[in-house]
Amino acid sequence: MLGAWNFTFDETSKHLSTPDLLITNIKGLVQVRERNIERVAGNAMSELPILENAFLAVDGDRIASFGNMSGLQSREAKKTIDASGRFVFPSFVDSHTHLVFAATREEEFVMKIKGATYAEIAAKGGGILNSARKLQGISEDELFERSLPRAWEIIASGTGAVEIKSGYGLTLKDELKMLRVAKRIGEQTPLLVKTTFLGAHAVPAGMLKEDYISSILAEMIPAVAEEKLASYIDVFCEQGFFSPDETEKIVEEGKRFGLKPRIHANQLHRSGGVQVGVKTNALSVDHLENIGSEEIDLLKNSTTMPTALPGAAFFLNLPFPPARQMIEAGLPIAIASDYNPGSSPSGNMQTMISLACIKMKMTPEEAFNAATLNTAAALELSHEVGSICVGKKANLFITKPIPSVAFIPYSFGTSYIGNIILNGNLIY
Ligand code: NIG
Ligand code: FE
Repeated sequence: MLGAWNFTFDETSKHLSTPDLLITNIKGLVQVRERNIERVAGNAMSELPILENAFLAVDGDRIASFGNMSGLQSREAKKTIDASGRFVFPSFVDSHTHLVFAATREEEFVMKIKGATYAEIAAKGGGILNSARKLQGISEDELFERSLPRAWEIIASGTGAVEIKSGYGLTLKDELKMLRVAKRIGEQTPLLVKTTFLGAHAVPAGMLKEDYISSILAEMIPAVAEEKLASYIDVFCEQGFFSPDETEKIVEEGKRFGLKPRIHANQLHRSGGVQVGVKTNALSVDHLENIGSEEIDLLKNSTTMPTALPGAAFFLNLPFPPARQMIEAGLPIAIASDYNPGSSPSGNMQTMISLACIKMKMTPEEAFNAATLNTAAALELSHEVGSICVGKKANLFITKPIPSVAFIPYSFGTSYIGNIILNGNLIY
């Protein structure tokens, strides 16, 4: 802990009026950054600055000031929370989800227990095509009603900003429907939502792949851009889905329409996904269960954020990304949930952090950096969220009384979140 840290702010960062919210006696204010930094990589991933015995003031939806309790000039505030014995964290940023979907798929879960592989289930019309059939059969309003509880569920588990993908529509009308629902979630909940067009998630049943790719290029990308429904474009680059060449063609067309790439890469095979991600200057390459030194070397010479999805590796019994090797090579790592009905039916970032620690041998400090600062960078939100920094959005959670930061991943499966503040408002 960095109890001796002494933060000094210029005049503009001192709150001049009575703050809307003052949190006092904070046992540890986690991820405090005097100056905003974009992301952390390599050895710097293990530095998680914590200010002991701290206060934090919120004005409107912004962090107005913070510091040691000894430096708190006035206790006047519209609302005060005494956080004795409790830690304050910046909300998690979940940079990879598919949380808009029509129905769960626990029947496939049972098939997998009995020995079927993900690829075998997909080949029988299960998997993504199963989700697409169900989603195509319901209205936009119905899809919103079914997806909204998942948004509130991730809020309750500490997430404040989230990326949501399409990819269970697989027709022009249904992909647009999914993205409209994802945007509505951003409008009707306190979550900060970024959306991604993932038309190239699977080839619809009964359609030739080349015809579907033509439709993505000629119809879907222009329509998504026209309605401003997404910031990003994604492709499931994987054997049996889309090849690296097809991926490149699709994301390059997306780029022409202002959609920046992020890629599903190297989940089931060493499919060339990382190579095409780096080549197309993708913001992130996500999954990485199957990578080696070649992919790690390529990522070292790029700005692409390597993103682990430990929930999917766990749920599908896949190898976990080689986090130690990646960090030793100087890479950053981000951690996201991949919340979806087929391969990671959990959007709980505390669980993801536990898995990263237990299965990927990341330290709690590295895992928290990966799930806040680095995911914010992967979503181009570093200026807004991901750390406790004056001027950033007041998206935070206050824990229940706990002994240390490591206690959170250690107590896997139990949440120690006490209060949630999003956009400066107390939500729970
Ligand atoms: O990220 N890998 C591709 N897409 C999802 C799973 C989709 C599904 O099974 O519904 C993933 O794991
Ligand atoms: Fe995914």
